[in-house]
Amino acid sequence: MQMKQQLFDLFQAQIRNELESAYKYLGMAAYFETTPFKGFAGWMRLQAKEETEHAMKFFDYVHDRGHHLQLPAIQAMATEYASPLEAFRETLAHEQFVTSLINEMYRVAVEVQDYAAQILLQWYITEQVEEEKQSQDFVDRLETAGGDSASLLVIDKSAGKRSS
Ligand code: FEO
Repeated sequence: MQMKQQLFDLFQAQIRNELESAYKYLGMAAYFETTPFKGFAGWMRLQAKEETEHAMKFFDYVHDRGHHLQLPAIQAMATEYASPLEAFRETLAHEQFVTSLINEMYRVAVEVQDYAAQILLQWYITEQVEEEKQSQDFVDRLETAGGDSASLLVIDKSAGKRSS
């Protein structure tokens, strides 16, 4: 059964938002590739892949519900950052913004009594807790490291161990 138009509009917009997230993190990967921080570059590359998977989960779901999608334009993204800390602060702020979007989708799903959509969105709500925690951890560690190159390289190395 199709979703109410108001809810479908948010799902359709969120497919673009998740792909924009992927593009944003690909921009950060491009930045890190120009620095000694190849661990962060790899981490951002995997993050971009994960965002694409988030988009595709919504993509599949709207088709399961019988909708026909439109795909609006995706905006250009930065590939320059002042420092690893600036990139991860931007990541954290972006994930907090995405959490607010998912929460709004859930609020509307409750309002229109779409129980199936609520179940799907609960997965994203749980995922956002993890997404915010990961970026907050990097912000905290990078703030502690300050300008100390050795500490930055240790954090970069740990970021490079991410496997999925
Ligand atoms: Fe798809 Fe990082 O939220």
